[in-house]
Amino acid sequence: MAASGSAVGLGNIWGFPTNAASNGGAAFLFTYLLLAFALAYPALMAELIIGRHARANSIAALQGISRGPKTRVFAIFVGGLGILTVSFILSFYAIVSGWMMAFFLDPIARLAGAEQLAGWLTTDGEWRNGLFMLGFMALTIHIIRAGVRDGIERWASRLMPMLIGILLLLIIYVLTLPGAMDGLRAYLVPDFSQIANPRLLVDAMGQAFFSLSLGVGTMLIYGSYISKRENLPVTGSLVALLDIGIAVIAGMLILPAMYVALAGGVEIFNPDGSLVAGPALIVSVLPELFGAMGPVGLFVALAFFLLMTIASLTSSISMLEVPVAFAVEYLGMARGRAAMLVGAGVAGISLLIVLNFDPLFDLVVNWATEVSQPLLGFFFCIFVAWIWRRDAVLAEITEGAPGAQSGLFWKIWPLYVKFVCPLAILVVFLQSWNW
Ligand code: TRP
Repeated sequence: MAASGSAVGLGNIWGFPTNAASNGGAAFLFTYLLLAFALAYPALMAELIIGRHARANSIAALQGISRGPKTRVFAIFVGGLGILTVSFILSFYAIVSGWMMAFFLDPIARLAGAEQLAGWLTTDGEWRNGLFMLGFMALTIHIIRAGVRDGIERWASRLMPMLIGILLLLIIYVLTLPGAMDGLRAYLVPDFSQIANPRLLVDAMGQAFFSLSLGVGTMLIYGSYISKRENLPVTGSLVALLDIGIAVIAGMLILPAMYVALAGGVEIFNPDGSLVAGPALIVSVLPELFGAMGPVGLFVALAFFLLMTIASLTSSISMLEVPVAFAVEYLGMARGRAAMLVGAGVAGISLLIVLNFDPLFDLVVNWATEVSQPLLGFFFCIFVAWIWRRDAVLAEITEGAPGAQSGLFWKIWPLYVKFVCPLAILVVFLQSWNW
């Protein structure tokens, strides 16, 4: 539940549908499905297996499976880069999540007749962005302070079913509106001319890695909390299936919603034919769509942005957990103190981004997700397939999964993480350099 909560977030509900829409709809959907199962799932397994074996934060875990002084230094580098990267990811994630909170409060302010407040909530500005980012970080810190059993798991298992429920209700509603079927068609009927587009592959790969929270040690930490009695390949496939499933379902909401907005006169395409960019679309097009629904739109907006806030929160706690686990286990800090200090540090970076949004936001997003994350995914595969002893890997998988040695997973997975994964990640990484 906790790992699925981490995986499901802004990446699924916004990132995936937007990517799908700007990359030929169904063509992206199929490519994404292929890459998610064939590459991201094996990489997810690498992190879960290392994590459960080591039962420790990412640096200690990677050091534990190192074979000599050189690989131990490499372990510090990879684990450390992961901690740094996830902190930067959280710093921009908290800003976008703050918008979700503001737009969740907007319908409440309207219902209370506070039009001026509603206007402030929905207008881009440093005060609004800063305050809501801080509010979101405070919530995240609060949950993390309670620890994994009491905090993360309790919240994730409460919030996830709610999230799926709201999502399904919204889909049913949106599909009854004019224009929705055009969106569904764009999403499900492939435009195969797009398959040849190299950008499609790069986007699909990046999306899969971001969506499954890979490379930075998030899943490694969660793996370290999984019981030895649990069947890892099964647990991992459930997380991947749920994550991919929610992305696919979210596509059925967002694409039709966009075309409903288009039918209602809202511009969803830029003059050059590309879609209005990521976060901007959520906070410009969707509220207009909800607004056009009349009074019921207030409740739809409320439900939608509550859903986004919930999804962001179960992801952000999984991010903050990475540096906090390191501070607790490695530096011997008390958990509450570590959560406060690290959280404050991330909020500080976040505030810098809010105050210098124009160059910094894109810079941090691109560096963290397009450069650092793929590179880290590559290193994790190297660790599990080339550095860690094969029999130790098998021994870890066999715990909770007796007979794993003769199972399908063990027949395919080791070769995948040894050759296919690193190579594919490297290709994508080099491609992203060219852009
Ligand atoms: N996977 C989450 C999403 O789709 C975001 C996320 C959580 C993440 N933890 C992460 C992304 C670690 C990268 C690294 O929104």
